[in-house]
Amino acid sequence: MDLLKAIQDRRSTRAFLQRPVERKTLETLLRLTTQAPSAINLQPYELTVVSGEEKQRLSRLLVKRMKERNISCGPGAKRRLPENFVERERGLLRVIQPNLPQDTPFQNFINEGSCNFYGAPTAIIITLDRVFSSARLTDAGVLVGYMVLSAHGLGLGTCPIGLITAFDDDIKEALSIREEKDVVIGVAVGYPDPEAPINRSRSERVPLDDLVRWRE
Ligand SMILES: Cc1cc2nc3c(=O)[nH]c(=O)nc-3n(C[C@H](O)[C@H](O)[C@H](O)COP(=O)(O)O)c2cc1C
Repeated sequence: MDLLKAIQDRRSTRAFLQRPVERKTLETLLRLTTQAPSAINLQPYELTVVSGEEKQRLSRLLVKRMKERNISCGPGAKRRLPENFVERERGLLRVIQPNLPQDTPFQNFINEGSCNFYGAPTAIIITLDRVFSSARLTDAGVLVGYMVLSAHGLGLGTCPIGLITAFDDDIKEALSIREEKDVVIGVAVGYPDPEAPINRSRSERVPLDDLVRWRE
């Protein structure tokens, strides 16, 4: 698949087929993903691939914790968001709302869906060793970019799941991840359900002029 077309076409998948992703395909995905550049080639992350029964158990645990603690997806802002960012959030809501399963409020769909990795057969949990400063979060971000595009090229759908960082301790315990690691993000991976209306949602991007400054 043409790289530029993949970049243009990819969007997050929020409904998956039950069909498991073959081990060989996951290995190909991980080999491509880990071609991502990282500072000083440190490759400071670790990836935990969770499928099958373990994935079901993890999802059940996260949904339970989300309900117990009333955790909700949010922008991770330190203070009130300026209006232009709030408007971008509203834009996503406008795109997703018409494709939500009937009678499911947006926040419920996103919160429960995220904890369940939207029913994907595989979840990839990305952790960073605590020896690193927050500067190395950039490397994990680049890695996720490579992952979602590589997956798209392999015919897989993905959705990055930031919400799960709220359950760092639970995830580490459930997956025997060492204490000195921090969960920085998860990614739902599977074959997209072609019939699901939610997968027709195409988030938009603001005009370049809203993001880019030129200095000459
Ligand atoms: C760091 C990061 C965290 C995200 N966390 C979540 C999440 O917890 N739940 C969710 O449904 N989508 C999550 N997303 C997906 C974004 O909502 C999505 O990428 C954005 O709306 C743009 O849409 P697109 O991926 O379809 O282009 C996350 C994306 C990124 C990059």
